[in-house]
Amino acid sequence: MDDKKILFSAIQPSGILTIGNYLGALRNFKKLQDDYNGIFSLADLHTLTVKQDPQVLRKNTYELAALYLACGIDPEKSILFAQSHVPAHTELAWVLNTIAYPGELSRMTQFKDKSKKHEDNINMGLMDYPVLMAADILLYQTELVPIGADQKQHLELARDLAIRFNNRFGETFKVPEGYIGKTGARVMSLAEPERKMSKSDANLNAFISMDDDTDTIIRKFKRAVTDSDNKIICAPDKPGITNLLTIYSLFASVSIEDAEKEFEGKGYGDFKLKVGEAVASVIDPIRQEKNKLLADKSYLDDVLSQGADRAARLAYRTLGKVYKKVGLVPRKRG
Ligand code: TYM
Repeated sequence: MDDKKILFSAIQPSGILTIGNYLGALRNFKKLQDDYNGIFSLADLHTLTVKQDPQVLRKNTYELAALYLACGIDPEKSILFAQSHVPAHTELAWVLNTIAYPGELSRMTQFKDKSKKHEDNINMGLMDYPVLMAADILLYQTELVPIGADQKQHLELARDLAIRFNNRFGETFKVPEGYIGKTGARVMSLAEPERKMSKSDANLNAFISMDDDTDTIIRKFKRAVTDSDNKIICAPDKPGITNLLTIYSLFASVSIEDAEKEFEGKGYGDFKLKVGEAVASVIDPIRQEKNKLLADKSYLDDVLSQGADRAARLAYRTLGKVYKKVGLVPRKRG
């Protein structure tokens, strides 16, 4: 690690990712990894807060590791590791729990949403989830956290906990800043454009998965909900078209204004086809590369193992400081 600033982010291996995860997170990770010391994690412990099939979780974890690499995360430049391989995450989460309040955690939007969605499994982990996320971030003296808009409230909590700890025990943590893209930070559902695109949506036509092939992508965009008149412009009363234009602009690397000009006077059919083609041209090579990488589990194990070693060295430096500050007696070694 050189003296560049630290960037940290994580993704849950809780299913095949969508183009929402790609535009809101992965794409920016790749863009930022040259200018920062990037640390990227597979937030496997976070996924346990909703019921997982253990076999599927293992599969999804390898899928995500391969996807990170296929999207351009370079394990020579950046650290890529599984959260559960570095126990310092749960250790710091415990200490942060002692300065986090149930009131602030129960107010979190995602906790409230997930409690509604998983009524039969409202567990302590679900409520404590943002504290573990704060530990993830603060362990590395992170300065920048690239995330989609839905994680902003959790990042605010990480900042609050860092400030609270520093005030009580003296300067210990860097207070991280969020990096939320101006466009693409909140990709919406193709079926209900007032709702966020989500990998756990029961309606498979509502999202484009990073595993969808070209035909599926084009078919899903054809079915995407649009608005009543035929104008292809971004406007608050046109959430469907605004979402499609945003997706197009990011995948085709053109500005929204240029995209609006390109489709002036065109029909929805043409437009949707072009959006589908633009998305498929980016997703297709990524999917193929991911599948190639998935065939070599031992390579993925090696990458994660080396990543965990490098992450642990940094993490335990911070955890050691924290334990000392709060008054825990260090264990005598040797
Ligand atoms: P997760 O796994 O739900 O999502 C991973 C990333 O994708 C972003 N994202 C979106 N961006 C744009 N449009 C969407 N429709 C969309 N859906 C998801 C998310 O904002 C996120 O950046 N708690 C985190 C994982 C995590 C983490 C961390 C992130 C654990 N520890 C520390 C940053 C730092 C989560 O569940 O993301």
